[in-house]
Amino acid sequence: MAIPASLSKNLRFPAVAAPMFLVSGPEIVIATCKAGMIGTFPALNQRTSEGYAEWLDEIKGSLGPEDAAFGVNLIVHNTNTRLMADIQITVQHKVPLVITSLGAVKDIVDAVHSYGGVVFHDIINARHARKAMEAGVDGLILVSAGAGGHAGNQHPFALINEIREFFSGTILLSGAQSTGGDVAAGLMAGADLGYMGTRFIATTEARAVEGYREMLIESTAKDITYTDAISGINANFLTPSLIANGLDPAAAKDPHHKIDMAEELNSEAKAWKTIWSAGQGVGSIHEVLPVADLVSRLKAEFSAAHKAFAARAKLYDL
Ligand SMILES: Cc1cc2nc3c(=O)[nH]c(=O)nc-3n(C[C@H](O)[C@H](O)[C@H](O)COP(=O)(O)O)c2cc1C
Repeated sequence: MAIPASLSKNLRFPAVAAPMFLVSGPEIVIATCKAGMIGTFPALNQRTSEGYAEWLDEIKGSLGPEDAAFGVNLIVHNTNTRLMADIQITVQHKVPLVITSLGAVKDIVDAVHSYGGVVFHDIINARHARKAMEAGVDGLILVSAGAGGHAGNQHPFALINEIREFFSGTILLSGAQSTGGDVAAGLMAGADLGYMGTRFIATTEARAVEGYREMLIESTAKDITYTDAISGINANFLTPSLIANGLDPAAAKDPHHKIDMAEELNSEAKAWKTIWSAGQGVGSIHEVLPVADLVSRLKAEFSAAHKAFAARAKLYDL
């Protein structure tokens, strides 16, 4: 159990603001790192590799020696035609943290290690975790049931316990963490870092349109639909946004009634732009905050949870 030194340096809250398609840009990354948490964005949020390099320059130019490290997310899949170019740019800019999704590839891990970078990989089950471990990743992001974006369906305790038995690297827990108490609970269960997506959509620095933030604040866990009908991979979406797009949430959950999004929206980017993703943690998100205020609140909640837990343990002489 450990956090690589290059990431624990300047870390003042043990969590990562997760990369989110169409939502995370330089603004959220810079504000998060300045608040002492690791900020990240998907390289594909910029339309071109040149644009990606410009964002890296902007972020590196804005961060000082006191700020926490930042990271980027690379989608490792044969449909990502920019991957090789983006890896080259990542290496040139010596990005401290690279989060790989879908494929875990040794060559990419080696390229990031060549300049001292760290690689974390997204997984939803032990089989994927073993494959990523073979590729030599430094950490695993355990995307459990209820997470925003592409999510798994395993309970976080089951996932952490199973993977800890064979993996000694960094473990990040992803899924429905909306409060500092949730992050504390993840650490108690054996994670090294929390990984929060949905909570950061409701920040002033997120690139989410107003209607998205409002819907998220009004929603609770019952308003989340888990379906593979939108992008071919199971993900969680805000049910009211499916309805607003003329889609039937009941049909979206039924494997026999696949919605042909290619027909209706003709590209995945367009789908995620109009059909909004969020995790089950929406129920405890009640307002939009600047990232700095959110991180201060997370720290206070973490500390309160820790104190309450210590008092409870004392009751049982534990
Ligand atoms: C709108 C949205 C977009 C996302 N896009 C990506 C992405 O491009 N790459 C990625 O690795 N994860 C993506 N995720 C998943 C997050 O990185 C993270 O695993 C998840 O949000 C954590 O669960 P939570 O939302 O319940 O906090 C996305 C999540 C959301 C909500």
